[in-house]
Amino acid sequence: MSERTITEDMIFECFAAAQKGADLQSSAESFVDVEEYENRVMYPEFARWAKEAGYPEISKIFLTVAGEEKAHAVWMRELYQEMGEPPRGKDTARAIAALKEIRDNCDRLLAMNPEGVLENALKVAIRVENREWKEIYPNLRDQAIAAKNTRAAEVYQRVIDSEKQHAVWFQEALDSYQNARRATA
Ligand SMILES: [Fe+2]
Ligand SMILES: [Fe+2]
Repeated sequence: MSERTITEDMIFECFAAAQKGADLQSSAESFVDVEEYENRVMYPEFARWAKEAGYPEISKIFLTVAGEEKAHAVWMRELYQEMGEPPRGKDTARAIAALKEIRDNCDRLLAMNPEGVLENALKVAIRVENREWKEIYPNLRDQAIAAKNTRAAEVYQRVIDSEKQHAVWFQEALDSYQNARRATA
């Protein structure tokens, strides 16, 4: 493997500073944190990479999605205020504290191969979004339905629809990125 080859795993590792000790239990509360992490750390960072690699349109998509992730966190927090206040922001706080370390890690990858980083960031984003709309939020919605909590089920369904849209946007961005690269190869 050439040293310029960037893998999806390398991108995950690049964020490892934030994940140290993170509790990844799939409880609903922890997903408020996941949403805020995506809003404040992951997607803004991906947007920065896209810009530096010379793809401002893709950068804009990452920023749009980052903003919508904030909305998901807000919708779910509202839900929890009805259910009782969850422990707040532990993982996100850790990620924000580690932001400099994350950026330094990411800058090392960017310097190696900015376009490889961007292509794999899109793949990571697609993987994250697909997992959310196909598995995580349908599970939470079904739990809410089983508990006859219609309002929670509706909120989760709204999140599912939105995450599915994100997956579509990122897939379209990846397709057009790859087509453009093939055209100039
Ligand atoms: Fe989200
Ligand atoms: Fe999303």
